Amino acid sequence: MAAVAAIAHDPLVSATDIPTPQSDAAVRAVLRVLHCEDREELTIGGLAVRSLVHEFGSPLYLFDADAIRRRAALVHAALGPRVALLFSIKANPNLAITRLLRECGIGAEIASLGELEVALAAGHAAAALRFAGPGKTDAELTTALQSGLGCVHVESASEVAALSRIARSLGRRAGVAVRVNLTSKALGGRLRMAGSGARFGVDQDQVPELLTAIAGNDALQLRGLHAYNGTQCFDANAFVHGASLLCELAAAFERKLSVRLSELDLGGGFGVPTYLGDPQFDLDRAGLLLQPVLDHHDAPHRRYFVELGRYLTAEAGVYASTIVRTKTNGGRLHLALDGGLHHCAVAAGSGSVLRRPGLVVHASALQQPAAATVAIGGPLCTPQDQFADAVQLPPCAEGDVLAVLSAGAYGLSYSPIGFLGHPTPAEVLIDGGAARIVRARGTALDALRGQRP
Ligand SMILES: Cc1ncc(COP(=O)(O)O)c(C=O)c1O
Repeated sequence: MAAVAAIAHDPLVSATDIPTPQSDAAVRAVLRVLHCEDREELTIGGLAVRSLVHEFGSPLYLFDADAIRRRAALVHAALGPRVALLFSIKANPNLAITRLLRECGIGAEIASLGELEVALAAGHAAAALRFAGPGKTDAELTTALQSGLGCVHVESASEVAALSRIARSLGRRAGVAVRVNLTSKALGGRLRMAGSGARFGVDQDQVPELLTAIAGNDALQLRGLHAYNGTQCFDANAFVHGASLLCELAAAFERKLSVRLSELDLGGGFGVPTYLGDPQFDLDRAGLLLQPVLDHHDAPHRRYFVELGRYLTAEAGVYASTIVRTKTNGGRLHLALDGGLHHCAVAAGSGSVLRRPGLVVHASALQQPAAATVAIGGPLCTPQDQFADAVQLPPCAEGDVLAVLSAGAYGLSYSPIGFLGHPTPAEVLIDGGAARIVRARGTALDALRGQRP
């Protein structure tokens, strides 16, 4: 086994500029969520990640059920009893996790028929589900209505017309909320999904006409408004500003149009540390600032929702993989893992504008000082398959386990799992000190699935 012991020298970068994950504030914050801030060995749900990899194979997704429960309780407490929470299944479509969050009193927001299946299998009542997305097909809307789905978050006049036609042909009434494209500039979110020219929602000034049409259509039942302004929002003020704008709009529409908007989905997108140096979302502040807004706009008929994906699950998940090879090229030590971009694309920078190192730690050396500057890459034949170009890690050797933290959201489902045909990793949930497989590992034969010569 080739051990890496010295800090590699790169003439262009001084060692002090190279980040050290084990002392990074974002890493420390996520380790606290996992109750590992003082440990040398990374554990999840009390079990050592290294042993879990030994038992279940590498690479591997691991989720801590108690960390998810703790996070759900914190969000409930901060946002208060007037806010009902929805889990955005897209963040982690694992059935066991969706079920766990339902048991925590959290509903679900779906964005496909696949997610509808997950939600129903997890025990959600169809009538309690919300269906979001800018390009729902007639076939999808039909299946959703047939299942008894509660509310469609419509994003265009054309979708309203289709929904009306389909509801009428099925002899049903479809619950409808309009996703509003808020035009304010101060909405936060590293990945903005609202504002001038956005492809999501209905522009604020077109909403009144749509609301009037829905309210006057007996195949539709107008429920309310929805706004989702962006993901990875680290600014509590910006979230509350968006929520407040939606509440004001709702009040104005109710006054001017004589409609009743009984549901306001305030969006969410609370940010989680994902790359070295990332900040944290101030949940308590969001809760504190939100209460007066809700007080001001409260009405007996009104229900408020906040929909969250990554904030509920990301920090409770770890993607563990094993160092297969080490080598030095051009003075840089390279660690080649058996896992990478194809399973955990976010940590390799997918979806972010600036590439920064993911939250990668040595699973058995959380407190040790840096010993080497390393580049951490996976097995794929693309330069994109890299979790870090240069970070300082404790001594690393072939066979050691590295762990990507904050990997419990937008993991497998957000990754190019078909690229190069490596099997998908197993997903394991740790609960009550016991680990169980909640998604089986794939096989090499999956590369042939559905194909004909
Ligand atoms: C409409 C909608 N709701 C909720 C989410 C979940 O976002 P996050 O995981 O950042 O909370 C998304 C993510 O893109 C979304 O598009």
